[in-house]
Amino acid sequence: MFDWNYWLELFGARAYALVIRRPDASDRLTDAERELIADSIGTFQLGEQSEGRTLQGFAEKFALERGIAELPAVTALFIREEQHHAAQLREFMLANGIPLKQKNWTDSIFRRLRKLAGYEAAVTILVTAEMIGFVYYRALARATESRHLKTICREMCADESVHLRYETQLLMTLRGKRTPLLRSCVEFAHRALVAIASRVVFHDHARVLRHVGYTPRSFHKDCASIYRMVMKTGAYRPRSRDTQGDVTS
Ligand SMILES: [Fe+2]
Ligand SMILES: [Fe+2]
Repeated sequence: MFDWNYWLELFGARAYALVIRRPDASDRLTDAERELIADSIGTFQLGEQSEGRTLQGFAEKFALERGIAELPAVTALFIREEQHHAAQLREFMLANGIPLKQKNWTDSIFRRLRKLAGYEAAVTILVTAEMIGFVYYRALARATESRHLKTICREMCADESVHLRYETQLLMTLRGKRTPLLRSCVEFAHRALVAIASRVVFHDHARVLRHVGYTPRSFHKDCASIYRMVMKTGAYRPRSRDTQGDVTS
């Protein structure tokens, strides 16, 4: 069962630990590192910043329909963590003379898809972006000698693993409402989305990813293994329970 109070308390407690780390004056990227990662990190900074209004809007509508009083607050706290990632990356970029981005085509696609979607599809798109982000930040930590960048990448990976646990439990509860056949179709579509998105992201961030030894195939393999790992942690609810109160219980 989905325990809204658990997530409300957890995200509420975590909100106090959201402090921005400032890099040491001695800890700066070399020119070669800056040239390698600037464009790529700018795109991820933009992506972290874009989580927000659309998801909150979907969550509020869904909460009203299903009578889930905690959902808007949980979503707002979750978005705050993503905004913190954006602020942390922004601080790092400014300290290292990397210009902020206003627009990127992959970010625009994710934004547009989320706007078209309903709540469940928006969470599906979000969890896909988080899985790929997790693999990317792990790679970015290996692509640099900067202690500060390594630290913030590892902290973001730790945060994303909490987010992935929240989102997959939520997603599985939502999907538990479907018939087994429809659920299989949805899972197939989700795996296809992970495959397509991981290849698109590889194309857009090829220099950083190739620098740490990734190929399109091995990057997708790691994204797919995160998918398998996190989707196994939740459990589908039997359909009979759905008649008694959806995801509120
Ligand atoms: Fe994030
Ligand atoms: Fe996240």
